[in-house]
Amino acid sequence: MIKIRTVTGAAMTTWLDEAARLRILVFRDFPYLYDGHIDYERRYLAQFAAAADSALILALADDQVVGCATAMAMRGADADFRRPFDAAGANTDDICYFGESVLDARYRGQGIGHQFFDAREQHARQLGAKVTTFCAVQRPDNHPLRPPGYRPLDAFWHKRGYQRRDDLTTQFTWKDIDQPSETAKSMVFWLRALTGQQQRPMSASNPGG
Ligand SMILES: CC(C)(COP(=O)(O)OP(=O)(O)OC[C@H]1O[C@@H](n2cnc3c(N)ncnc32)[C@H](O)[C@@H]1OP(=O)(O)O)[C@@H](O)C(=O)NCCC(=O)NCCS
Repeated sequence: MIKIRTVTGAAMTTWLDEAARLRILVFRDFPYLYDGHIDYERRYLAQFAAAADSALILALADDQVVGCATAMAMRGADADFRRPFDAAGANTDDICYFGESVLDARYRGQGIGHQFFDAREQHARQLGAKVTTFCAVQRPDNHPLRPPGYRPLDAFWHKRGYQRRDDLTTQFTWKDIDQPSETAKSMVFWLRALTGQQQRPMSASNPGG
């Protein structure tokens, strides 16, 4: 039985190393291919935890973290993520940014990804956000490390009410597992306008974030 728990403020500190471990593990796979390092992760996650209105959503199996997702007010997000919205003249006070969702592959396909969205959208509503957004890395279809039978998450994101916005893109830099040094990656944003209505009912194990 997986429990979903939303943690905010100083309480997040306890969980950051576990979140770092999962990010390194899960983002090593296509399409991220991230050659992660714990020191960078600790800095990144400490910044995230210190940012205004951030929330860490945990998936816990017997109190072990098997997945996590993040949400924060866009105004506190890294400049690389804010830039396209600033350039488009958007009011970033209205936007809640979802940083990532990562789940140990052994626990996938049980609806936890949906629960991560439920909890993050709940957090966004509590912040008074009107729009939620996240971005995804762009990789060519013929990328040499794309596994046979790889299924993109686009259909899932559409189902959650998100629209891909090719006019909102950014670049983010990291070292791929097959590269000698860091390279810039093209990231495209997906957006959803929040309404009072939940996209799907909150699940019993996630009654309110
Ligand atoms: C994103 C992620 C957390 C979703 O986890 P999950 O618990 O398996 O998701 P769910 O079980 O809630 O399924 C969500 C949808 O994904 C789809 N899905 C299930 N397995 C899939 C797979 N292997 N590939 C693509 N889509 C899949 C299903 O269609 C499902 O939608 P449904 O409502 O029609 O059944 C998980 O896939 C993951 O960690 N991926 C790697 C990291 C990543 O790419 N994160 C997103 C960007 S930060």
